[in-house]
Amino acid sequence: MAPDKENDGKFTSRLERSNSYSTLWGNRANLQSSRCIHYNAQQRRFDLLCRTCQYSFRVDEHGWLEHQYWGVRLQPDDDLDFLHHTNVAQPFDPIPEKTERFKPHLAVASDILKRQSNDSNRNTWKAATMMQRHHYNEEASRLENACWRLLAMKQRRKEKECAETDSPHTCSEHISIPVTEEDRALLFEEAIRALMTDNQDTVLKAQAANKEHFDVREEADKRHEREMSRIPPGLERVGKNTKLLEFSDYGTGDYRIPSFNVTYGDGSNISPLHYKAHRITLGVVPMDCSMPIVGDELSVQSDASALIVTLADPFTDLEVDLHYAVFQDLDVIVRRTVIRNKSPAGGVTVQKIASATVDFESDHYHFLHLPGEYTAERQVVYQPIVEGYRGVDSRRGTSSHQHNPFAVISRGDTPPEESRGEVFGFALVYSGNHRIEIEKTETGRVRFNIGINPDHFSWSLASGCSLEAPECIMAYSNEGLTYMSQQLHKLIRSHVIPQEFRGNWVCPILLNTWEALYFDQTHDNIMSIAKEAKDIGVELLVMDDGWYGQRNNDKTSLGDWDVDLKKLPNGLKALVDEVNGLGLKFGIWVEPEMISVESKLYEANPEWALGQSGKSRSEGRNQLVLDFTRKDVRDYIYGKLEAILNSANIEYVKWDCNRHLTEVYSRQLPPYRQGEVFHRYALGVYEVFQRVRTNFPHIIVETCAGGGGRFDVAMLKYGPQIWASDNTDGLARIRIQYGTSMAYPISSIGSHISSVPNHQTFRRTPLKTRFVVALCGTFGYELDLTKEVTPKEKEQLKAMNRLRTRLAPIIFHGDFYRLWNPFCSTNNVAAWMFVSPNRLKALVFAFVTFKKTLGRYLPRLRLRGLDPHQKYVVSELVPTTIRRITSVQFAEDQDRPVYQFGKKTLEISGLALLNVGLPIKLEFDGDAMLMELTAMSAHTTTCAMTPSASFVDPKAHPESPLSLSPIQPPTHQHEMAMTMLEPPPDEVPRSISHRRII
Ligand code: DGJ
Repeated sequence: MAPDKENDGKFTSRLERSNSYSTLWGNRANLQSSRCIHYNAQQRRFDLLCRTCQYSFRVDEHGWLEHQYWGVRLQPDDDLDFLHHTNVAQPFDPIPEKTERFKPHLAVASDILKRQSNDSNRNTWKAATMMQRHHYNEEASRLENACWRLLAMKQRRKEKECAETDSPHTCSEHISIPVTEEDRALLFEEAIRALMTDNQDTVLKAQAANKEHFDVREEADKRHEREMSRIPPGLERVGKNTKLLEFSDYGTGDYRIPSFNVTYGDGSNISPLHYKAHRITLGVVPMDCSMPIVGDELSVQSDASALIVTLADPFTDLEVDLHYAVFQDLDVIVRRTVIRNKSPAGGVTVQKIASATVDFESDHYHFLHLPGEYTAERQVVYQPIVEGYRGVDSRRGTSSHQHNPFAVISRGDTPPEESRGEVFGFALVYSGNHRIEIEKTETGRVRFNIGINPDHFSWSLASGCSLEAPECIMAYSNEGLTYMSQQLHKLIRSHVIPQEFRGNWVCPILLNTWEALYFDQTHDNIMSIAKEAKDIGVELLVMDDGWYGQRNNDKTSLGDWDVDLKKLPNGLKALVDEVNGLGLKFGIWVEPEMISVESKLYEANPEWALGQSGKSRSEGRNQLVLDFTRKDVRDYIYGKLEAILNSANIEYVKWDCNRHLTEVYSRQLPPYRQGEVFHRYALGVYEVFQRVRTNFPHIIVETCAGGGGRFDVAMLKYGPQIWASDNTDGLARIRIQYGTSMAYPISSIGSHISSVPNHQTFRRTPLKTRFVVALCGTFGYELDLTKEVTPKEKEQLKAMNRLRTRLAPIIFHGDFYRLWNPFCSTNNVAAWMFVSPNRLKALVFAFVTFKKTLGRYLPRLRLRGLDPHQKYVVSELVPTTIRRITSVQFAEDQDRPVYQFGKKTLEISGLALLNVGLPIKLEFDGDAMLMELTAMSAHTTTCAMTPSASFVDPKAHPESPLSLSPIQPPTHQHEMAMTMLEPPPDEVPRSISHRRII
């Protein structure tokens, strides 16, 4: 196929460029090794060196990439070759025929050739070639020898010619035959061919000409044999099915779930892959398609290095590039795969392409993942990995509420723990259909694949075209789940979210009008809420769904992105200006990927919706999905977004997506490309997101999909935060946010205080608890301040906002530790904490959802991450007001603070907090506790600097918000303001207004 004739989108034309190395990539230096990536030519081994861990694989005697090790850093001189003795040959493990041999020199030869291309003096050349030996060793010397032999043959022939023609050039002169540039290139080629080709024509010809002097063929054959039999004595040859592989090929003896699968024009899909070449470079390698990647593709980052290993099928010219990026100072590796059809003969169809395959050594393992549902996303589930196959995936067109594209493999026969044990985390940078595959085989080894879901997927690759699979972040921890999560959090915060929102950035406190107004988003309603919002300290007002077309309910107007002048009679700009006039930023809700059948857009362009004409289409939330594989659709929608964003001072966008894909068919693509629609849809969405980012970089984008139905790393490339769930109930949120924290930074988790009874669960959770849960995320409100809060509560909200402003830096940039797991707690409790990077400050949170008994003690809460040598002031920030009269177990609301330890502050050493723990009392259903810890040394210093800094505003100390914000005993006024004044939650929900709930 001529690229993009059928679909002239920008993203596809870039996608299908024949050379996957873009210009940017081409400009980068090709290194022998980088600080994080080493190639040992003698052992043909690659070592990827992370902060504390190492990932190693080698090119084996067949040219397969054999995975060797992923674990703690080893000594540089540790030779991993002993590992291959653990491979046990099996009778039913197919071994390739002898003709299928690894041809290791090609890459090496071309590299030498390149290096020497400016040197025409053969002695210098020879000396330089010899100097390369420390890189190439045997390969270089074999190649070099072959060249010199051929050169000698050439000289011999020349001599003979001289003798025959009785030329004066005789023996003494033949030595100085000049080796021209051209000669050298030819010689190299000849030598390579002589050494490499199975039909050794060149050698045979040379042999025939110079039989008496050089039996090159024999030499080459012997060398070849030696090459192939470089298996240490006593070691049996084993086939693919028994080996740990970096990437498995298809149809050649690896019976495990394959890493990829293609179908050739002749119907076959047999694709042996062998090492062909590799390249090491500084910085991350950009993609040719619109898919987001980890790292900043536009600048060469000195803290990242990349390795690209090319595998090739010698019979079909299919190539696979395995990309590895290592980020210095983190224990993560980012992998991806590119598949390229270099055959001039014709097209192939890709049926499957994993982003990463990892084979784990035989052992006991557990698999942890984050399944869920609408309003209960990312719940933590784990199970032992047993023999057989296990798959988890999305077939819905988004990463989904049901199965997050994240998985953990932990070593051991007990479930993964937070603070110890080896865990391997995988987060796919993809928002479309994904699949996680696990297979434990008869050898006890475990294969793990992650990538695009092969179901409903096929991709036609014309000659010269390539397909790039999404990236997968792989995090290693030898200290349990917490460290793994911290690595992912740091990587996402420093290398994924847009640069504008990195560093000390903290998102503004927002109020979203959805649960306050639903579709009643009128100018007056918004302004009355905005005034109240400003009064309590909100910084950003977000107008949600209902402001456009005739959007009075969810049956209409998606696609008609023009202001409804009945609701906003003065237009959008007037509203935004008025909101800005109050001192608030303004944000807007959009759902660009969708179309209502009842809309002007659908009337004009019914073919813009996914689906086949003449066949029915399923609606979800009364809407269809726009065909984002089409450039005309994307351009139109982007144009509308651009107009909206240019029309007023909009500083935040909530990008929603309220249904999953069905009838996935694009009327613009030919039949053989229909298997591409799911993936092209994702690429199309990324393209529009990127246009918004490029042209409106200052806008905070919060992505959303009917709550948290598209919570993945790829989305975080376009905005720093994602709405976690449409379930705003504080208690339900504890589990959702806990599960989300496994992979995603707390700063990315959209979380709001909403009204009681809660609109989704009808539960009455105390304001204090709703506040404390919402603090552990972006923090904001989702309620009608004009109707749903009492004057007393309003005062509390003001204090809460001040407190949030003070605490946000440590929540956004500190290290996160999970303490009590709500998914396996017998006491229905949860706890976690944040620690500043210098360990001088910490925040500790604990919650109970439902108290089973009154008498049972909770375990003491042992803290983590603190400095054992420091003494900390432990201060309770939001005490309860419930006092229990023990003689009758009567719980009484006293309207004054009741502290856990009878007083607001305690002084305890880090050592005691880590080893003895805090005795916590959570007195009633839905109770919560928040403690702030400040090291005494920090306290002394900072107190001296800011003597009366109660509720210090970090903006006043921008130089170091984490270390300078001191803990200060609040004034009595503050103390009262922060006191939780609500009674315990009702068991029986009270009535709720008849509002629609999405
Ligand atoms: C689903 C979102 O998750 C809600 O917060 C809200 O924006 C609605 N959609 C609006 O339709």
